[in-house]
Amino acid sequence: MEMDLINSLKNLGLDFEKAVNAAATPDALEDLRIEYLGRKGKLAEIMSQLPKLDPSLRPAVGQKANEIKVECQQLFEAKKGNLAKESEARTLSRFDPTLPGREPWQGSLHPVSLVIREVCGIFGRLGFDVASGPEVEIDRYNFEALNMPPEHPARDMQDSLYITDSTLLRTHTSPVQVRTMLARRPPIAIVAPGKVYRRDSDLTHTPMFHQIEGLMVGKDITMAHLRGLLQAFIQNVFGRHTKIRFRPSFFPFTEPSAEVDISCMICGGKGEINGAPCRVCKGTGWLEILGCGMVDPNVYESVGYAGDISGFAFGMGIERIAMLKYGINDLRIFFQNDTRFLEQFGL
Ligand code: DAH
Repeated sequence: MEMDLINSLKNLGLDFEKAVNAAATPDALEDLRIEYLGRKGKLAEIMSQLPKLDPSLRPAVGQKANEIKVECQQLFEAKKGNLAKESEARTLSRFDPTLPGREPWQGSLHPVSLVIREVCGIFGRLGFDVASGPEVEIDRYNFEALNMPPEHPARDMQDSLYITDSTLLRTHTSPVQVRTMLARRPPIAIVAPGKVYRRDSDLTHTPMFHQIEGLMVGKDITMAHLRGLLQAFIQNVFGRHTKIRFRPSFFPFTEPSAEVDISCMICGGKGEINGAPCRVCKGTGWLEILGCGMVDPNVYESVGYAGDISGFAFGMGIERIAMLKYGINDLRIFFQNDTRFLEQFGL
């Protein structure tokens, strides 16, 4: 009996080895493990005979059973490793030339960049050049030359970030007007996009944002030209049914000055949607979009222009245009660099 059991164990070991060598897949291998070494497997079956043995003979059989079990487990693990390696090698060597190529990841332009390009494109086709100026600006160009002397109350309108007593982060793109007029003689027609900075930070204000400035100076230029130009521009950006209206306003560097509203593109200018006030235009049907006016004579004087000249200027916030154009309702999202937002915009 004792020898029978030991022989059975030896045979089990040999059978297991053969079967493992023949196993072609991890599943087949696992089936073998269960068949031989599992709780109800062949080894357990042999061991269930143990109690029938004389107690003095049991230790020898038990020891043999353990040896065989360890050997079997080692065989199993080794084969398992080999099968895994083989399958990896097969995957790597399998080259399927019919698979479509992987598209390279392509970035998209930031909506602010898209609007800058679009606005510059429209004015470019209308004969305007693109100009630029520094973001660290001298106080004189940012304020004084624009008809805001040091004590001018208009300076309170913009809480500024100063670098030194006489230099600051420009609070608007209007100093590019001054730089352009100092560098060139009329006729001038430029747009100037760029970053501007203010000491302002809340839900609807960020310390840095973008503006586009426009300036046209020459002879016999009137407010009618300004209006026609802005109408063409706005209908280009927001659609040809968009209406515009001029509202009297004040800017130190223009006289007369106006703020321009466009008909709300959400409610179509009606001020209500299904009987409820439109939330975008707050029920008015109009949205403020830019400031403009005829260049103030004091500005011409500060850049040394004299004689028979006239012209207009305008300035607008890019983020505001992008929000209205793309239906974005949170200013902060422009500055978070969340690719889930950014990748919704094309090139
Ligand atoms: N600079 C003004 C601002 O930052 C915007 C502006 C208004 C620009 C009227 C102009 C203008 O050129 O004529 O709010």
